[in-house]
Amino acid sequence: MPRGLFITLEGLDGSGKTTQIKRLGAWMARRGLAVIETRQPGGTAAGERIREILLDSRSGTLAPLTEVALAFAARAQAIVEVIEPALAAGKMVLCDRFTDSTEAYQGGGRELGSAIVLELHRLICGDLQPDLTLLLLPGFEASLARARRRNDRMEQATGTNEGRFEQEQDAFYRRVWQKYREIAAREPERVVLIEGDLGIDEVHEQIVEAVSERLVLAG
Ligand code: TYD
Repeated sequence: MPRGLFITLEGLDGSGKTTQIKRLGAWMARRGLAVIETRQPGGTAAGERIREILLDSRSGTLAPLTEVALAFAARAQAIVEVIEPALAAGKMVLCDRFTDSTEAYQGGGRELGSAIVLELHRLICGDLQPDLTLLLLPGFEASLARARRRNDRMEQATGTNEGRFEQEQDAFYRRVWQKYREIAAREPERVVLIEGDLGIDEVHEQIVEAVSERLVLAG
């Protein structure tokens, strides 16, 4: 059986990834493809618990290397439990964030640099690479404002939040942004950059175009 395609979505908080992953999943399912959607950190029982530690502001200040270790702990579990079995069974895997997020947020945002993240990826993830990465980079100001509003709403509704990152300063997000652009420039074959303040439908169309190309290549 041919292996499924591993497709990741990346971008700043508030870039609209989650909406797009759902639309892409529905588009693929309509074409009769077996597809699973998952997210990082998370996607497994242990991974979702790790997500809470990494994202909830009640965790307080975490050392940058703690963040890296948590992100890779969740990822190691997701690869064994969810991603590899699905790909081996010929399913398409749509993953909301993967190692590019660790490189952008911890490598760039937290200034640990790329080398340590890429080395850990090689050691822990067996260098599993996405077949395609869709990187959504809408206007910087707009996505930041969206992420902050959403976090305030969640906190009002539930008393908890996933806001450890959303509360960061603009300078942190500029570094994340910059690192994402660097990754896209370094790996133009894998990473399709979707830029600018486009509407939801326009972004979806660009995503479908990129995915269709890969599906044709994969036969
Ligand atoms: P996510 O739920 O995708 O946020 P959003 O829907 O706002 O895009 O991701 C949660 C947060 O986790 C996001 O702020 C980025 C951060 N993160 C890291 O810092 N490192 C990582 O390795 C991953 C996977 C996520």
